Amino acid sequence: MKKSLFILTVALVLSIATVSTASAGFFDAFFGSDKGEVNLYTNRHYEADEKLLEKFEEKTGIKVNVLKGTSDELIERIEREGEDTPADLLITADAGRLYRAKEKGLLQSVKSDILFNNIPANLRDKENYWFGLTVRARIIVYAKNRVDESALSTYADLTDDRWRGRILARTSLNIYNQSLLASFIALEGEEFARDWAAGIVNNMARRPKGNDTAQAIAVASGVGDLTIMNTYYLGRMLNSSDPQEVKLAKRLGVFFPDKTHINISGIGLTKHAKNKENAIKLMEFLSSEAAQKFFASANYEYPVNPNVEPAPLLKSWGRFEAQDINLAKLGKYNQRAVEIFNEVGWQ
Ligand SMILES: [Fe+2]
Repeated sequence: MKKSLFILTVALVLSIATVSTASAGFFDAFFGSDKGEVNLYTNRHYEADEKLLEKFEEKTGIKVNVLKGTSDELIERIEREGEDTPADLLITADAGRLYRAKEKGLLQSVKSDILFNNIPANLRDKENYWFGLTVRARIIVYAKNRVDESALSTYADLTDDRWRGRILARTSLNIYNQSLLASFIALEGEEFARDWAAGIVNNMARRPKGNDTAQAIAVASGVGDLTIMNTYYLGRMLNSSDPQEVKLAKRLGVFFPDKTHINISGIGLTKHAKNKENAIKLMEFLSSEAAQKFFASANYEYPVNPNVEPAPLLKSWGRFEAQDINLAKLGKYNQRAVEIFNEVGWQ
């Protein structure tokens, strides 16, 4: 236990990177309290992000120090660091996690007309504790040679007998599936959600295992005929440097069910932020039209800013109608969703 914690800490420290070219020492760079900096904890690891943050530095003179880790690691870390946390900002994926960070008392409310104008109300916390920065959709991805697109319609239809033994799914331990089921609880009620989850379990081709990419590869390889997964994983596969992955991805079709489930990755100001003003400036910058295009397309996601066009690949998948829901509900019903998954035996 102690050993694994140590390894985790080492991994996090090693992944600390300052995007600044300034020659300040590491501890000065990261823990300094000059007005000219901001400390960002993020689960993102894209070159485009680094370039954007450099642009922000050039524009404002504010130095951005970045610590990377997985979403859950970063939330745990901010909790552990308490009042002493160097983190001013947290960027993490899934509204369910941002809700959790708020519930744990790790974030604070931000009032900014720029953020309110750039980010639609359903994609941010009602009390402004967190704001969406990118949108992803959880869609049906199917084997083009075994499933006719006209056979697909709704998430609920996937519980029909004709899909028996044909569906691949990620485990219910994953927050994306928890948020999907939470959205059904919020929009259609608990009974619908339970029937749906039980119906999918009934139609599974195998025990849930692997991440979204693993489901896509398994569909392309014939283990099952379709899966439910986040859009950006398919974007990554289609643009992979591994030709085999590209080949498999090309066998897959993209289908947006009626009222497609969407989620966000988003940003929150930490409760104990030492560089609050700079942090809000960075939040505003990331929501701006100029930044949104690069920030969203770095991970094949949709911009939250409605004035910004999605990247060509996403445009080629067509428009879709998203669930009409405030994403905070995904956090609100998370616990109930976990319980229902357990009740119906979705591993
Ligand atoms: Fe993901």
